[in-house]
Amino acid sequence: MQTRIAVAGVHGHGATHVTNAHRYGDLVAIADPRPPDDVGVPVFASLEELLAATEVDVVVISTPIQTHVPLAELALRAGADVLLEKPPTASLAEFDHLSKVIEETGRACQVGFQAQASAATWQLAQLVTDGGLGEIRGISATGKWLRKAGYFDRAPWAGRRTLNGVAVVDGAVTNPLAHSTAAALLLDGSTGVDDIASVETDLFRANDIESDDTSTVRITTTRGTSILIAVTLCAAEQAEPAVIVHGSRGRAVLNYTTDTLELPDSRQVLARGDLLQNLIAHRADPAVPLYCSFAATGGFTRVVEAIRLADEPAVIADAFVRWEGEGADRHPIVHDVEHWIDRAADELALFGELPAPWTTP
Ligand SMILES: NC(=O)c1ccc[n+]([C@@H]2O[C@H](COP(=O)([O-])OP(=O)(O)OC[C@H]3O[C@@H](n4cnc5c(N)ncnc54)[C@H](O)[C@@H]3O)[C@@H](O)[C@H]2O)c1
Repeated sequence: MQTRIAVAGVHGHGATHVTNAHRYGDLVAIADPRPPDDVGVPVFASLEELLAATEVDVVVISTPIQTHVPLAELALRAGADVLLEKPPTASLAEFDHLSKVIEETGRACQVGFQAQASAATWQLAQLVTDGGLGEIRGISATGKWLRKAGYFDRAPWAGRRTLNGVAVVDGAVTNPLAHSTAAALLLDGSTGVDDIASVETDLFRANDIESDDTSTVRITTTRGTSILIAVTLCAAEQAEPAVIVHGSRGRAVLNYTTDTLELPDSRQVLARGDLLQNLIAHRADPAVPLYCSFAATGGFTRVVEAIRLADEPAVIADAFVRWEGEGADRHPIVHDVEHWIDRAADELALFGELPAPWTTP
């Protein structure tokens, strides 16, 4: 029998999950308060109503961050396995709560970090473990993205730290470029909640939002690695994010959006698996490991928690920002942000330590 799949949240990124549910199983129902047109399966206004009326094996949750935990708990307690979009939770307390629900119900929960389904990521992780890059000086991640006003205007939770008193933590590090941090932690073998020794945050924003859009974060793992994340949503143009391993025998660069792995002496494009297909395989045979189990997002969630608890991001002064476009296309460009991101990544330094010009009064 085909795996019976329900999808919660089908506009935005959820549309990909609907396509995937058809590809890898049997899409039996959809939950979304904004019903989609002509989908050919029953549509419910809430996941609760869906689960009351439908037999489901797997629930895919692609809804606003602050709804992840209650919806995942509903699905797990109804006996379903879950594919939960990233970031899985907005706080460590939520992470602990959902960990207990997973343990109690004995169900599986895969998290939507699709870069972890890439052979490029796993091959580099193996190379690091085998010492192929020598001694690791550090790991860094760069993200130079351009997001326009329409991105932040698409939903009430976009760019928010909280909504109606509930944690959202939708900033550049924790959401759009979250794969960078998750992949860097995976490469260090530090995905667990107890693998993080400290997290230093240096958060800024040029957009008129609550959250950070131009940030550096330095994570020190309990094995002693420095991981420096340097990202912006205010680049002059969109570039591929990169995760860089700095080894004594050279550096390796992972472009996780294209599954490209650049090593000191080669460049390869590798295959990518699928998170839903892998969850279905894991259901059939628990010996098949999940690409990204909920437990393996504990280290990432420690970073989310540090950003949640950090002071509000500092506003980047007008002198360092140029605005382009009109209406939904309007967007800020932080002067030379690409240069400062590259320096932060090379030197494993926070923007304020370089110092990038907008960080000094
Ligand atoms: N893995 C990735 O690369 C990737 C990419 C983009 C977004 N995402 C993640 O996917 C999730 C959704 O992001 P988005 O940008 O599509 O958000 P969005 O706000 O644009 O869309 C969310 C959808 O969920 C629906 N929804 C809201 N509350 C709901 C509820 N209680 N029950 C059911 N449906 C509900 C909305 O009507 C909408 O259809 C977020 O966690 C986001 O971080 C992941």
